[in-house]
Amino acid sequence: MKYFPYRDGQLYAENTPVSEIAARHGTPCYIYSRQALEGAFREYQQALSGCDHMVCYAVKANSNLAVLDALARLGAGFDIVSAGELERVIAAGGDPARVVFSGVAKKPEEMALALELGIACFNLESAAELEVLASVAASAGRVAKVSVRVNPDVDAQTHPYISTGLRENKFGVTTEEALRVYRRAAELQSIEVVGVDCHIGSQLTQISPFIDALKRLLDLIDQLADEGIVLHHLDLGGGLGVCYRDEQPPSIGDYIGAVREVLGDRPLQLVFEPGRSIVANAGLLITRVEYLKPTSEHNFALVDAAMNDMIRPALYQAWLDIRNVNERSDGHRASWDIVGPVCETGDFLGKDRDLTLHQGDLLAIFGAGAYGFTMSSNYNSRPRAAEVMVDGDSVHLVRERERFADIIRGEHRLPDQG
Ligand code: LLP
Repeated sequence: MKYFPYRDGQLYAENTPVSEIAARHGTPCYIYSRQALEGAFREYQQALSGCDHMVCYAVKANSNLAVLDALARLGAGFDIVSAGELERVIAAGGDPARVVFSGVAKKPEEMALALELGIACFNLESAAELEVLASVAASAGRVAKVSVRVNPDVDAQTHPYISTGLRENKFGVTTEEALRVYRRAAELQSIEVVGVDCHIGSQLTQISPFIDALKRLLDLIDQLADEGIVLHHLDLGGGLGVCYRDEQPPSIGDYIGAVREVLGDRPLQLVFEPGRSIVANAGLLITRVEYLKPTSEHNFALVDAAMNDMIRPALYQAWLDIRNVNERSDGHRASWDIVGPVCETGDFLGKDRDLTLHQGDLLAIFGAGAYGFTMSSNYNSRPRAAEVMVDGDSVHLVRERERFADIIRGEHRLPDQG
């Protein structure tokens, strides 16, 4: 971890000891490295240089305004799935003209906002959605640019909950259905057909499913061209995996290189929607050991972060590396289950981890930058964690820890009786 190195047994976030950040901002606390996320984004840009392209960061992976801001300054586009994510992009200084809008159940009012702001493309997920968009655009006196999300029926070979490109999934339409949607779209005055897209799943560690999907999209593009429907862009979605433990995903450069090779010199703009591969390894979740509780069955380390802060282990059996913030040789060396305070047996961050622990120690959960804070909740009335971004020697608090008042904001007691 280049941006989270150990120096003399102490974990650093870029140039600042993590323990200093924890002392200042408390725990649990997310720490993001600006250099790490910018570095990953630049890898996409470099691999795509000389080719008409747009890298639309998937906001759902980590939607903190500072993350969006840093990427917007590098010229990122954004992939959004709700009006809320669009508002975030605007609040962070992003350019709506570089936004693509995915999502299976866009509401008319979300479409209207996106049209008003002039987004680059609506990624349609059904024939019914096309009709609603056409009427929303017509009544606003605008033309909506669209792409059809094709479900290319390829097996992404990843966890079933994050696999989206199989026929049985709710996403996109089959290639046959796509032809019908395009023909209808081409007839509608308030619709302009501009592209095709797919997203086959997340945390892919092989290039071949992407290439299979790409070839199916190219066949469709050719079929459409024969009918006089000419597309301007091809959007391959996100999905490139990262190394959490011992996975060996292709590098960003190798992945893009393979795509460009298949694409040849076709005059298509290439669009990508990466989330995880930009932010996962740019983030840590820092937690403190409240108690050690060795039992005859398990050694439990009870920490102050829980499944409401980071749900990936509970939800997908995801394995995230957990290490001491300050390495120690004294203390209780054992195999520990790292569990949170939430009242669920599924509330764990990691199991059977060989660590030397002491009550009060700080632990770092690696690979926490993607789908960490964005999937967090207030379950058990727990305030959501603080978020900090380090940038060289600077440390910026980019989201304050929630307070109780934030949790109950908008709630009301019943009116007085009689
Ligand atoms: N584009 C679309 C249409 C998507 O649905 C997604 C992710 C992405 C792009 C970004 O994919 P990425 O590059 O991050 O793989 N919560 C799960 C991951 C869910 C992914 C949902 N869609 C997890 O924590 O593993």
